Formats: sequence, structure tokens, C-alpha cells
Amino acid sequence: MSEPRHFLDLDRLSTGELRRILDHARALKAGAPGRALAGRTLAMIFEKPSTRTRVSFEVAAQQLGGHAVVLNARDMQLGRGETIADTARVLSRYVHAITLRTDHHAKLLELAAHATVPVINALTDASHPCQILADVLTFEEHRGPVAGRIVAWVGDFNNVARSWVHAAMRLGCILHVACPPELTPEPELLARARAEGARVEVFAEPAAAVRGAHLVVTDTWVSMGDADGARKRRLLEPYRVDARLMELAAADALFMHCLPAHRGEEVTAEVIDGPRSVVFDEAENRLHVQKAILAWCLGEIGADPMP
Ligand code: CP
Repeated sequence: MSEPRHFLDLDRLSTGELRRILDHARALKAGAPGRALAGRTLAMIFEKPSTRTRVSFEVAAQQLGGHAVVLNARDMQLGRGETIADTARVLSRYVHAITLRTDHHAKLLELAAHATVPVINALTDASHPCQILADVLTFEEHRGPVAGRIVAWVGDFNNVARSWVHAAMRLGCILHVACPPELTPEPELLARARAEGARVEVFAEPAAAVRGAHLVVTDTWVSMGDADGARKRRLLEPYRVDARLMELAAADALFMHCLPAHRGEEVTAEVIDGPRSVVFDEAENRLHVQKAILAWCLGEIGADPMP
């Protein structure tokens, strides 16, 4: 039996595979027929709340001719101590792909290690690859190829930011990270990204990171499961994205936020509700890109050997 094609992180796919997924997403969005899940079932395990991921994957499964089973981990035997390995083996006998949202990336890897069907990362504490592929699709719809363009991440270096590093490794965007020294990216990640040719720079000053950027991105300061919310809010106060900061970006710069947002905290209402903001296009594109990810996982799109 061949190995299932898991979608765990952007840096685990080749540039060619990511490009084919993005092309397929664009085609599906334009109305191309997609039946990758016809007669098949997707299981979706959530250990944490979700609006966009849950609804977009469920609609994606239905639009691809299949069916989704949404599982709250607390209501499963998983929540009573059944192992992830056994859960993976059992679900693999019923369904054709599994998504997992969890606070522990190791659980995603364990699920993938024991599943005989594809496993998809629907957000972990380490990364959020579906979101960033949707963001790249959104940027390219508005502004053309992301390669060589400056993406400025402002705020907490969190799971979403980590997937932007992976995007810089595979898709060639130039990533500027502005964050407090206390919340900076892991040196090993930066070293690995740079060794693979990615252009990633870390700045303490938001203005330095945003100057000339083609895209400015932020995220909630206190992520789900964060225990040190008060400390993070204090550290991140100088990293709010407001109109003055956006003025330093390129004249046609876009603003993105994966949502949910906290207006007045990480971003002002003037920016997120303003003309440069494409946050609802990002949210819509979760649907199109996840349909293409499912098609890739299920073999409808060709795979490459890793670079
Ligand atoms: N951006 C995102 O993943 O949204 P949800 O938490 O609502 O799924």
C-alpha cells in the first residue's frame, strides 16, 4: 500500500506541488468541476474552537461530492484516553481523509504516522498551512506572483507566522517579521529557512519591517490556549497595525488577518475595515484552497519528490 499524502506543513511539499494546488484552487474557484471526494468521507477532529476552518472544510467536502463528519475531541473516546494511534487506525477504516486542529503539533504527527489515509493540519500550536496557502492565493489574485514581494508580519511570532516562514522557503516571498525580542522566531527555524535560500529578516521595530512592504499581516495577540495573555498584550502594544504604520508600506500594499480579529488591539478598525484590507477574501479562499488540498491529498493532483 502506498504512503498516504499528508498535508502537514508547507515546507513538506515541493514548490511545484504547492503551485499545482494553488493553480487547482484558482480553477475550482473559477468554476472548474471538482469531484475529488465523490462518494468519500472526511473526518474533522477539533480540540479547539473554529468558525472558518470547520465551515470551509465541511462545505469543501460537500462541493467535492463527499461528506464530512465533524468530531469534537471532547465527545470522542480520544477525550477519555484512547490513543491517537488507535484513533488513526480506526478512522482510517471508515473515512478517506482526516483533518485535525490541536494545541500539540506532536499529536498531528502521531495521527499521520498511524493513519492509512491522508491527514491535514487544520491548525496546531506550531503552524497553520491551510491559512497561508489561502493568503498566498489571495495576494496573487490581487497583486500577482508573491515571489520577490515583501510580506511584513507584525506582532506575535505564532503558528500562522511560522507557516509564512515555510511559504518564504517554498514560494519565494521575502518575509519581514516585526516582533518583541521576547516573542521572536526560533533560531533553528530561521537557520533552516535561510539555509534553504529563504529571505527572512527579523526586526524589533514595526516601521523597519513594514517600510516598502507589499503585504502587511498580523494576528490576534493572544492565541487560543495562550496562558500568558496579559504579558503578551503588554509586550505587543507597540506592534498594533494602524494607519500610520500602513502609510510606510508600498503604495498598493494589502492588509491581511486570518481572523478572528480584535479591533483596537492588534489592528485598528480603520485598517481592517479599510480599502487595503482583504480579510474576507482570505476567509473565502480557505474554501477554494482546501478543496485543492483535498484533491492533492486524494491523488487528483500530481506529487513531486521533495526538493
Ligand atoms: N483563521 C482560522 O483558522 O479561523 P477559525 O479559527 O475560525 O477556523
